[in-house]
This record gives sequence, C-alpha cells and structure tokens, in this order.
Amino acid sequence: MRRLGVNIDHIATLRNARGELHPDPIFAAKFVKKAGADSITIHLREDRRHIKDNDAKKICSLKKILVNLEISTNSKMINKALKIKPNYICLVPENRKEVTTEGGLDLDKNKNKNKNIILKFKKKKIRTSLFINPSINDIKTSYKLGSDCVEIHTGRLSRLVKLKKNYSKELNRIKKCSIIAKKIGLEVHAGHGLDYKTTELLSRFKEIEEFNIGHYLIGESVFFGLSKVIKKFKKIIK
Ligand code: PXP
Repeated sequence: MRRLGVNIDHIATLRNARGELHPDPIFAAKFVKKAGADSITIHLREDRRHIKDNDAKKICSLKKILVNLEISTNSKMINKALKIKPNYICLVPENRKEVTTEGGLDLDKNKNKNKNIILKFKKKKIRTSLFINPSINDIKTSYKLGSDCVEIHTGRLSRLVKLKKNYSKELNRIKKCSIIAKKIGLEVHAGHGLDYKTTELLSRFKEIEEFNIGHYLIGESVFFGLSKVIKKFKKIIK
C-alpha cells in the first residue's frame, strides 16, 4: 500500500502568526493520524520559522505516530535529531532566504560528511532519506552514501503543471529516476508542491511508495473545514 505523509509545518506557521497556542501542531499530528495519514512530516528549520524544538520533541514522543523529521545537515541539527529520535529522517538543503525548500541536496559536496550522518542514524535504527532532484547521478550517489530512501523533489513538475506548461520531460525524468532507484534497492518517495493533479500523475508510477504533502493539503483543508466551523459559530451566537 502506498503511504501518505502529511506535512504539518503550516499549522505551526498559523499558530506562530499569533504567538499563542492555537492551532496546536501536537493536536494536529494526532488529528492527522486519526484521519488516516500514514506518517507526519515536520521540518525543524535552523531559523525555527514554523516547527519549534518543543513541538518536534513532543510530536516525536507521541505513541503509534510515525514521524518523519526533515532537517539540514548542520551538525547541531543532526545532534538534536539523534536526541529526539524520530522514526524517519529526511535530509534537506536549507537556505535562510528561501520561502520553502527550493531544490534537492547537492550530493557531490560533503560526501564523507553525509555518509557519516546516515551511518549515525542507521545505528539508531532511524530510516534515512535524502531529498534530491530527479537526477540519476544523485540516485546513484544516494545509494553509495548508504541512504535507505530518496525523496524526489517534485517542485519543478508541480510548477510546470500549475503554469500549464509542457511537463512531459520532467514527468519522464521522475519516472526514470524512480525505476532506477527502486532497482538498486532504494525506497522511493516524492514530495514538494504536490496537488491533486500532480499526485495523480505520479501515482501512476508504482515505484513511488510514499508521498509527502503539506502546503496544498493544508490549504484545501481550510475550505473543507470552513462550513463546519461557520455553522458551529452560528449555533453559538443564535
Ligand atoms: N518533502 C520535503 C522534503 C519538503 O521539504 C517539503 C516542504 O517542506 C515537502 C515534502 C512538502 O512540500 P509542500 O508543502 O509543497 O507539499
């Protein structure tokens, strides 16, 4: 069965906008699991713009909820993650000025450092994934570094689909990478910018075992939840 990981960073963004407690990402993690998600994804960024240390600690300690923690390869973040002990780790590139993770890791740099990081997580029995661009070279490097999984960055595909541009080359690139990754023994995940259409397109590739979706899913949930909440307020004030 294909798995859906739900990224709840944007719930923390909404909470932080008020600097108070609502909406609570810990409640969100439980709610999302109850609603059928297979795992929860949170990104503990170096700038802590959404998920905070305490959120990550609490969410990772929830029982029966599989947590995929995204972090950069900064040594402080690695040590923190080793202490928090999530079920899964996804290493991502980070750039302070970006609005969101803009591309995959540059795997040609810091090979030994990355290999050691993966080894540290393996020793703690934490499944490790590398967030990469759809590139055969990066797939092969991920395997050589000892990663369990790769998460293919689908941002370019998503942008092309949204702009109604020709996306067939990019879709084909992802397909090829997924086939090769699976063949050499890597588990294949996909994520970034996914909406209904891109998820449907990528679901045709049986090699992709996990989808990690955040922004669009949370955005859609606002519309699906609005009428219920409005009715509740109308009832209170009637
Ligand atoms: N996967 C990874 C590795 C990410 O960094 C992100 C964004 O934080 C996502 C998936 C989810 O992307 P989106 O919020 O665009 O669905």
